[in-house]
Amino acid sequence: MNDLANIRFADGEAIADAAAIIRKGGLVAFPTETVYGLGADAGNDHAVAAIFAAKERPRFNPLIVHVPDMSVARQLVEFTPAARWLAERFWPGALTLVLPRRADARLSLLVSAGLDTVAIRVPDQRTAQKLLVAAGVPIAAPSANASGEVSPTTAEHVRQSLGGKLELILDDGPARLGLESTVVGFDGKKPVLLRPGAVPRIKIEAIAGPLERAPADTIASPGQLASHYAPNARLRLNALSAAPGELLLAFGPAVGAAKNLSPRGDLEEAATNLFAMLRELDARGPRAIAVMPIPEHGLGEAINDRLRRAAAPRGLRA
Ligand code: TXA
Ligand code: MG
Repeated sequence: MNDLANIRFADGEAIADAAAIIRKGGLVAFPTETVYGLGADAGNDHAVAAIFAAKERPRFNPLIVHVPDMSVARQLVEFTPAARWLAERFWPGALTLVLPRRADARLSLLVSAGLDTVAIRVPDQRTAQKLLVAAGVPIAAPSANASGEVSPTTAEHVRQSLGGKLELILDDGPARLGLESTVVGFDGKKPVLLRPGAVPRIKIEAIAGPLERAPADTIASPGQLASHYAPNARLRLNALSAAPGELLLAFGPAVGAAKNLSPRGDLEEAATNLFAMLRELDARGPRAIAVMPIPEHGLGEAINDRLRRAAAPRGLRA
């Protein structure tokens, strides 16, 4: 592995150093409540380009802009009433809103990859909050993994994936939710689910009304390419047991499981464990990872979305 990357516990001094790196156009990995992010000054074209280079993304997917609060968000995007209700209910938190970019927004055009909208969220994690305040600039951050790998939920995952390319990885323990934010955009006034995530659909629908499901792989959410989240091993979904050479990733009571997402069948626990367990099983080099069925309700929608992507053939990586 790589020694270049510096993992530091996220105390005041490390956060101040991270903020200084961001301000001078460098890259820093930092925790959020969902997954670890690879952050750069969202107003600096070179810094944003460096994110794409570090991840080796084959194309420019638009990135999520992180801000400390609603007042900063208002300087960057236009809020419709429905967007404001959602922000009031879910920020800080794991909801990303895709909204029209303000003409006077100090944001790199590369951040939204040429679209006239910006994906924005206020993270609910103490280190992320302190970093945003200390840096004093919006921070663009995709998940801190190389393209095609599952998202990192610990500082060590980040080091394994991008270690040689980063000056500093802020460590504040495992990500609390373990699954990326839910991304919601608007088609006129109608809210559209662009990516299922850590806030379940039903909670958003209680505020905004029925969510349309965006067709996969549309330009509206380019990050939704089929195999965005693929581990190396093949995934076999809805498995009831492991075949020879396979490792069983269980959900609920099970015998012969290599790992269990949640022995008591709890979807939140399963979401938290998903990426870390996929990594652990993948590292053992099995012929395939057999994954037991996950119910489709609540967080199950996002978990199944990630599993289907991870199971897709590898040609279409994002
Ligand atoms: O939880 C998360 O959202 C994490 C943490 C670090 O905040 N970030 C994350 O970023 O997952 P990333 O880049 O891996 O995913 C961003 C998603 C992609 O599906 C992308 O296509 C979508 O947001 N997105 C970003 N900007 C968009 C835009 N202007 N229009 C439509 N979709 C957009
Ligand atoms: Mg990602």
